[in-house]
Amino acid sequence: MRISTIGCGYLGAVHAACMAELGHEVIGVDVDAAKVEKLSRGESPFHEPGFPEVLARAVESGRLHFTTDASQIADCEIHFIGVGTPQMQGRYAADMTYVDAAVDSVLTHANTSPDQPVLIAGKSTVPVGTAAGIAERAAASGKNILVAWNPEFLREGFAVQDTLHPDRIVYGLPEDREEGEVIREMLDRCYAQLLEEQIPRLLTNYPTAELVKVAANSFLATKISFINAMAELCDATGGDVTKLAEAIGHDDRIGKKFLRAGIGFGGGCLPKDIRAFMARAGELGVDQTLTFLREVDAINLRRRETAVEMAADLFGGRLVGRKIAVLGAAFKPNSDDLRDSPALDIATRLWARGADVVITDPAAGDNLRKARPDLHVVDTVEQAVKNSDLLMVLTEWKDFTELDPAELRPRVREAHVIDGRNVLDPQAWSDAGWDYRGMGRGVSTW
Ligand code: UDX
Repeated sequence: MRISTIGCGYLGAVHAACMAELGHEVIGVDVDAAKVEKLSRGESPFHEPGFPEVLARAVESGRLHFTTDASQIADCEIHFIGVGTPQMQGRYAADMTYVDAAVDSVLTHANTSPDQPVLIAGKSTVPVGTAAGIAERAAASGKNILVAWNPEFLREGFAVQDTLHPDRIVYGLPEDREEGEVIREMLDRCYAQLLEEQIPRLLTNYPTAELVKVAANSFLATKISFINAMAELCDATGGDVTKLAEAIGHDDRIGKKFLRAGIGFGGGCLPKDIRAFMARAGELGVDQTLTFLREVDAINLRRRETAVEMAADLFGGRLVGRKIAVLGAAFKPNSDDLRDSPALDIATRLWARGADVVITDPAAGDNLRKARPDLHVVDTVEQAVKNSDLLMVLTEWKDFTELDPAELRPRVREAHVIDGRNVLDPQAWSDAGWDYRGMGRGVSTW
């Protein structure tokens, strides 16, 4: 099939390359000329394991092109919308400017005929009600354009895997059954290989499909904040939240995943999605339904301040002049994404309290230098820890979880370590002479 992907960020670029991998002819459109140029050379603009290989293969095959010229999408059968919906400045709601612009360009440039509909398939995370609005605009355009909502669930670090082998595929379809059947057939052709793998495919109406995505992210955020609330209780009582999570996780109904307590969640999705969801509920007059997400957000943000206070407590409340080595800046490992990163937020707060903060990250260093020239960024752990008073592991990169505490011990001035992700072995670090502190992880012989 001939396919366009509008927006070539994390979602769009990976989707475009994966669709070419499935054998489709794909054109990726983005307003950022530098990004388009890089992608056209087969180079990834971001750190994503496995993506460079798929991208290079797709570009070399001649099935994948990138452009800033939206008129090149004219002959595509499906137009996927994968632009960002960031949090609006000063508000909780999602900024829909890019989605609106993407729809505009399809309505302007798509070639249609009465017997040959084209499809707008939205993938971006949007407020419920968006697809119906787009369908109205499409109908008013006089062109034969249909609309589906086909949310994406990809996790950074697993983007290719999640796109080519998702847990499920959701088609949000219009109430008109005939139109819905035409759309289903088009999307089934597009995803034929995935469907052959027996990946569950759910047919829903528009609002359900839009809600699935925000409901999934809200549930995940709630799970993380739940275990972080338990971490606060463990801190107050001497319990160990990692053991607690393991024990409750053995219950299949609860499960072990997303119960890692620490400095909390960040990134380009979870924080802004729960806020946009609350804002939308307010607009719909059901704001009480989601007030619990306010608490989820509050617990999450409190983790960052807790980590800073733990650091300050080590030095009698004063951080001025203390050298702190921060290991990790990205919001999670295997990513160079700094958006709403708890690690970077904590580093910034420590710095604002007068600490001499030195940060290192295996992949996000370059982005960090560009985004935050005020911070001291170094390339290696050795440089970061030299003569430090405190080591803080804030992103659980393998490079950090596998550090040898005995080898690091002589390099630092004071041997305090705060394990912001509860990924280090407390016993091994204590045995090597470190004062180990986890998040909600009381010291215990058990
Ligand atoms: C998330 C969703 O997982 C994905 O399905 C959706 O499509 C986009 O948003 P992503 O933002 O890539 O994906 O990251 P995710 O792996 O969900 O992690 C989010 C944040 O939660 C990270 O900061 C991570 O460190 C944190 N986290 C995750 C925890 O603090 N504890 C956990 O147990 C799990």
